Amino acid sequence: MQITVKIYRHIPGVDTQPRYDEYTLDVDPKERILDLLENIKGFKDGTLAFRRSCAHGVCGSDAMRINGRNRLACKVLVQDLDTDQIVIEPIIGLDVIKDLIVDMDPFFEQYRSVLPYLINDDPLPADGKERLQSQEQRARFDDTTKCILCAACTTACPPFWANRKYVGPAAIVNAHRFIFDSRDHGAEQRLSRLSEPDGVWRCRTVFNCTEACPREIKITQAIAEVKEVLASGKINYKGVQIGPERVGSG
Ligand code: SF4
Ligand code: F3S
Ligand code: FES
Repeated sequence: MQITVKIYRHIPGVDTQPRYDEYTLDVDPKERILDLLENIKGFKDGTLAFRRSCAHGVCGSDAMRINGRNRLACKVLVQDLDTDQIVIEPIIGLDVIKDLIVDMDPFFEQYRSVLPYLINDDPLPADGKERLQSQEQRARFDDTTKCILCAACTTACPPFWANRKYVGPAAIVNAHRFIFDSRDHGAEQRLSRLSEPDGVWRCRTVFNCTEACPREIKITQAIAEVKEVLASGKINYKGVQIGPERVGSG
């Protein structure tokens, strides 16, 4: 089939303003949007800039707006879009570096701010085995282990568009992954961070994040669970209550 692809083009500081370049392509409907971009870059315009690595929905590097929705270019087929007019733009809320490439540094700063790693200073078990947990304990945070840090959620979130200091759904997902891990002892620090003015309460339950996630993580639900912990103090580990009365108490 023949399709038209319009692509956002801009080099800040070089171009006076953004433009859209249009390409007409003969494609197989089963080709992915990433294949179209590779085709254009390889055969029509080598200056086109976009990120990609794995090409199989694993690395999270090719999130972009495809016909107005945040998607991974390597996971969307032409036939999925049900049109012969395709518009490709950078994700919103992060500064464009060139064309479809945005500056991900602020996104990763927010991610790092929630301490996205296991915190446990207790000595390892004397028998040398790993820290054990039950299947139920592991299942408690299984969904939020699936994040590939593509930023499709955070850059689909209206409160983030309005205030780039909002920690954003991706960071909250990764905080959730450890807050609900029975082996972890860092919940208090993470909840303290998420209680800040630009933390979890900026979420207005818009659900765009959940709709955008290529890993189908129940993001809005995870955010609600973190809010509930902060509001009610219902989580505990080793019999220690974690909640508003302990957050920030040292
Ligand atoms: Fe991407 Fe989903 Fe992770 Fe957000 S939660 S960064 S959309 S994988
Ligand atoms: Fe934004 Fe998702 Fe909340 S889109 S407002 S983080 S539910
Ligand atoms: Fe890795 Fe698409 S290129 S997720």
